[in-house]
Amino acid sequence: MTDIQLRLCTEMDLDTVYTIEQRSFSTPWSRESFQSALTAVGTEIWLLTDENEKIRGFGCVMTIAGDGEVLNIAVDPDYRGMGYGDKLLLALLDSAVRNEAEQVFLEVRESNTAARNLYEKHGFQPIGIRKRYYSNPTEDAVCMCCDLQNRGNN
Ligand SMILES: CC(C)(COP(=O)(O)OP(=O)(O)OC[C@H]1O[C@@H](n2cnc3c(N)ncnc32)[C@H](O)[C@@H]1OP(=O)(O)O)[C@@H](O)C(=O)NCCC(=O)NCCS
Repeated sequence: MTDIQLRLCTEMDLDTVYTIEQRSFSTPWSRESFQSALTAVGTEIWLLTDENEKIRGFGCVMTIAGDGEVLNIAVDPDYRGMGYGDKLLLALLDSAVRNEAEQVFLEVRESNTAARNLYEKHGFQPIGIRKRYYSNPTEDAVCMCCDLQNRGNN
């Protein structure tokens, strides 16, 4: 894990980010959604790059009025299980802290064990279910919250 870098996304990175998105989700964000996120108030897209400056994953977080929300996170399928998700999620939580969030929320597919474990590892706890929130396939969302003041040193 040497020479791994975190940096903010720019317009020039969107092709790669969009490719990872399409390889990661059955209902991916549109390219326009990423473009909007680049300029949306309180929103940051963070990238994780390898020793050759190739983008291996990204995460998007929005912080408004003391509440953060993880809007998206994905690691290139060929590079999962290597600790990149950990680093990206920490970057999103750091962003929320810098922008004065007290808690961070997110939704995740009920069956998405990898993501749910990642979130729980970093202090998120389930707070509710949104019935049939996702399509393709239809599935409930688990809503999770991380209390930034009491999350320990993960
Ligand atoms: C979720 C995701 C971002 C994790 O990225 P990753 O780089 O593979 O994760 P890491 O290697 O950093 O692992 C971090 C933790 O995630 C959990 N995790 C990751 N892969 C897992 C798997 N296959 N099974 C169970 N838990 C897993 C573990 O808690 C792991 O910590 P540990 O290694 O100490 O056990 C990645 O699987 C992904 O891009 N999935 C598709 C997109 C997605 O579902 N995003 C979430 C939308 S809500």
